[in-house]
Amino acid sequence: SRSLNLAVIPGDGIGQEVVAQGLRILSAVLPQDVKLETKEYDFGARRYHATGETLTDADLEQLKRHDAILLGAIGDPSVPSGVLERGFLLRLRFAFDHHVNLRPSKLLPGVETPLAGQPEIDFVVVREGTEGPYTGNGGTIRPGTPHAVATEVSLNTAFGIERVVRDAYARAQARPRKKLALVHKNNVLVHAGHLWTDIFTKVGEEFPEVTTEYMHVDAATIHLVTRPERFDVIVTDNLFGDIITDLAAAISGGIGVAASGNINPSGEFPSMFEPVHGSAPDIAGQGKADPSATVLSVALLLRHLGHESEAARIEEAVSADLAERVGEPARTTEEIGDALVARVTG
Ligand code: IPM
Ligand code: MN
Repeated sequence: SRSLNLAVIPGDGIGQEVVAQGLRILSAVLPQDVKLETKEYDFGARRYHATGETLTDADLEQLKRHDAILLGAIGDPSVPSGVLERGFLLRLRFAFDHHVNLRPSKLLPGVETPLAGQPEIDFVVVREGTEGPYTGNGGTIRPGTPHAVATEVSLNTAFGIERVVRDAYARAQARPRKKLALVHKNNVLVHAGHLWTDIFTKVGEEFPEVTTEYMHVDAATIHLVTRPERFDVIVTDNLFGDIITDLAAAISGGIGVAASGNINPSGEFPSMFEPVHGSAPDIAGQGKADPSATVLSVALLLRHLGHESEAARIEEAVSADLAERVGEPARTTEEIGDALVARVTG
């Protein structure tokens, strides 16, 4: 019989509340013959204050044993900025080689967008997750002096680009419109830019059905706001991807519904799924947080593990629930969870 062995990291702030609902929906939707096992980990601000640790080698050994990881949110104002981001989130992405950072954007019916005229938004950004300027490749010379020099060198390997580009082509190939855009800045960043462009062109020969285009990142921000319906799949580097996916979330309903996957496609290490929103300490513990982004992250997790029909059922449930909420008084985290459980089981 089948099983799903999940590492659960509720984390800080609203992480606890939204993950609880995500797990309810997961149990409700899983077929009877799939045995769900979960193990909770206490990473986050509390553990950092108690032990000074963010994520140890021993923690990684434990996490490795799971099929996937569900994360709520890590971060708290009591911890200096950057400590948990680098020590936990980036460490996990690098250690588990999460090179495909998958961030879908779909404007669901009834969800508000700041854009005029309810455009059709349905695209996915494949953000490279282990290279670019995120590797810590740089340094400061003469720090603290008027002659300080800081470098932050973007690292781009042919190996790293090719694997994420191929993944993006495969995703484009599997979608009805079969379109893929490479977003970079190769008019200025000629070294990295041309490596990306050359590999993008070469890998494209394996996917003759996919229509491709190249777009500079600055132009992409304009098109995302003025003509978001033109996008299907976007592939880009780590930093450009960080920036345009916040914009993508903003135009497609905000971080309340944005889901993401930090994926290791080979399955060598477990992939990690998380809502794009943070820990929102200002509303933590009040039952006000919308669990939809976490629930949609659970859908990405299920799809990654091959449970496509269950993933689709969750997405339909969230979509229907959001549509039903229009004009209604705000519901609590738990009430939204109740409604979603009813929908996926009904
Ligand atoms: C994200 C976040 C992280 C990133 C930070 C918290 C390190 O902004 O997941 O997009 O820059 O990747
Ligand atoms: Mn970001």
